[in-house]
Amino acid sequence: MGITLTSTVSIKELNSTRIARPRHVLMCEPTYFDVCYSINPWMDPSRPTSTRAGISQWKKLHDLFVELGHRVDLVPARPGLPDMVFAANGATVIDGKVLVARFRHAQRQGESAAFAEWFRQQGWGEVRTAGHDNEGEGDILFTGNEILAGKGFRTAASAHGEVRSFFDREVVGLTLVDPRFYHLDTALAVIDTGEVMYYPDAFDGPSRELLAERFPDSILATERDAEVFGLNAFSDGRHVVLPEAATGLAGQLAERGFEPIGVGLGELLKAGGSVKCCTLELRRFSS
Ligand code: ARG
Repeated sequence: MGITLTSTVSIKELNSTRIARPRHVLMCEPTYFDVCYSINPWMDPSRPTSTRAGISQWKKLHDLFVELGHRVDLVPARPGLPDMVFAANGATVIDGKVLVARFRHAQRQGESAAFAEWFRQQGWGEVRTAGHDNEGEGDILFTGNEILAGKGFRTAASAHGEVRSFFDREVVGLTLVDPRFYHLDTALAVIDTGEVMYYPDAFDGPSRELLAERFPDSILATERDAEVFGLNAFSDGRHVVLPEAATGLAGQLAERGFEPIGVGLGELLKAGGSVKCCTLELRRFSS
């Protein structure tokens, strides 16, 4: 019996290889969101921002995660901490262990206590506040195998050793060189276990070589997609939620069998953040 493979069948088959795994994430409503200081090149305090628009855009992202079957916990926003909506920066959580962030800039330092308190109240066992500048999942990304750790703008090089010993996992250091991409999660996204997409020019030469060696078949983003924060994406292994303006990346993801879902977070982008920045993954068990 002959088998005829039509292109529809093969696309379907390709799609079916991507499996969504429900995630547990932490988010923070942008109740007090504003751009009243500038700690990255995207933030211009003289440009008007709307807290209301920020909340409604964020709410759509929140509801989308719930619809996709993810568990979303909420940490209460605190007045005077307008960047707290970027919950990804609050900690790194792997194997049920919580390393709470230590922020580089004074304007965000109050967030550490808010996150630490939340984790303790929720009964997370091992909760430690980092001893070195460490901006949580902004710079520390777990591929399911190794931990990729950014440095250059926010997280200190000395933080990488602490991450290694706290989580007892391999840590691969990467150096960021373009101030527009000041956190690792603006330049690279983990889209499945051991699979990443990234913008090579955001990294120095040795880091680019290292990435090419470790992740040879990665999706590489264009500057255009990186500039609209296309890499600030959240993937469950199948659905990749990313800024809607990153149309090139969405196409590349679809070609590899992912389902890209574009969202509009323009208001939060004025603070230099998007999908992933709003989303801290809570990994309770070893994987
Ligand atoms: N205004 C915030 C800052 O500069 C934005 C943080 C974005 N978060 C992220 N994970 N990249 O710190």
